[in-house]
Amino acid sequence: MIYNVIKYPDPLLAQKAQPVTVFDKELKKLTEDMFESMYAAEGIGLAAPQIGISKRIYIVDLSFGKKSEDRLVLINPEILETEGKQVEEEGCLSLPDIRDKVTRAFHVKMRAQDEYGKWFEVEGEELLARAFLHEFDHLEGVLFIDRLSRLKRDLIIRRIRKLQKNGEW
Ligand code: NI
Repeated sequence: MIYNVIKYPDPLLAQKAQPVTVFDKELKKLTEDMFESMYAAEGIGLAAPQIGISKRIYIVDLSFGKKSEDRLVLINPEILETEGKQVEEEGCLSLPDIRDKVTRAFHVKMRAQDEYGKWFEVEGEELLARAFLHEFDHLEGVLFIDRLSRLKRDLIIRRIRKLQKNGEW
């Protein structure tokens, strides 16, 4: 099943997501649906709140579905370590066509549970680290525009309001 990705300013995107406590078939199906939905939207990362489900789950696949080993599911993720700094343009499926430079750690080590509840650790650099941290922010109710300067954020919000008024958002 392909879910629609919800957009800013949906209040769900500003909420802290709830921990996953039940690891059952339904959860497995949800993660599969999340991959389908992410590929349909041509994204490289998707967090459950973005499809209207306020749970601590996100998926990442930098290969757009081309390499199965790149499919990552992080449930109840925690950031164990961050190192270094990178400044690159970032976008978000919940903020279509909005892009801006965001400072993130260059390297990150995460701990998370898989679809069966098993804990594992995974590390990422560059774009993968950026995706891990961007999606983690979604679980905390934070969007990448919240990490920009007040001025830049206000300009983007004004642009979105204009698009909304014209029925283009
Ligand atoms: Ni996003």
